Amino acid sequence: MRNVILIGFMGVGKGSVAREVIKNSEYMAIDTDDLIESMENKKIKDIFSDNGEAYFRRLEKEVSVWLQSSVKNTLISTGGGFYKVKNLKKIGTVVLLDSPFDEIIKRIKKHPNAARKLKKRPLLSDLKKAKELYNQRRPEYLELADVVIDVTKKSAEDCSKELLKKVKKYA
Ligand code: S3P
Repeated sequence: MRNVILIGFMGVGKGSVAREVIKNSEYMAIDTDDLIESMENKKIKDIFSDNGEAYFRRLEKEVSVWLQSSVKNTLISTGGGFYKVKNLKKIGTVVLLDSPFDEIIKRIKKHPNAARKLKKRPLLSDLKKAKELYNQRRPEYLELADVVIDVTKKSAEDCSKELLKKVKKYA
C-alpha cells in the first residue's frame, strides 16, 4: 500500500482520525511531531522556545527525507506546517482534513484537555495570528491534496471510513 499522509491545520483532528484508521485497516501509523520529539528528546513547545521555529522546520525536513526513503504501508500524520517540505507528494497520497477556522477552535475548546491542547501548540497562543496563518495556509493545503475530507461536525470514525474509501484509488 502507498503511504497516506495526513495534512491539515492544528487541532483539526489528524491524530484522532489516524487512530481510527489504524483500528480499521492494515496501515501502520506514525506522527511527524512524535518522531521529532523522540529525535530531540524534547517536547515540541520546548523545541520552539529553546531552539526556535526555523530549527523545528529543519527537523521536519530531515523527517521528510527519511519518510520518503524508508517508510511504507503507513498512515503518516503530520504537524500543521509539515506540508511545506519539498517532497510531500513523493511520500504518499496526500489527504487534507479540512474545516473552517472557527470550527477547529470550537472543536479544541470543547475537548476535556483543551488547556493542554492549546498550551502544547505555540502557534495557537495568539488566535488572531493563528487565523491569519490558517487563511494563508488553506489554499496551499488544497493545492497539494489528492483527497479532501471535510471533517466539520463528523466523528473521527466517519472521517476514517471516508478516508479509507477515497484513498483506495491511489493505493
Ligand atoms: C505546527 C503544528 C503542530 C506542531 C508545531 C507547529 C504548525 O502540530 O507541528 O506546533 O506549524 O501548524 P499539530 O498540527 O499536530 O498541532
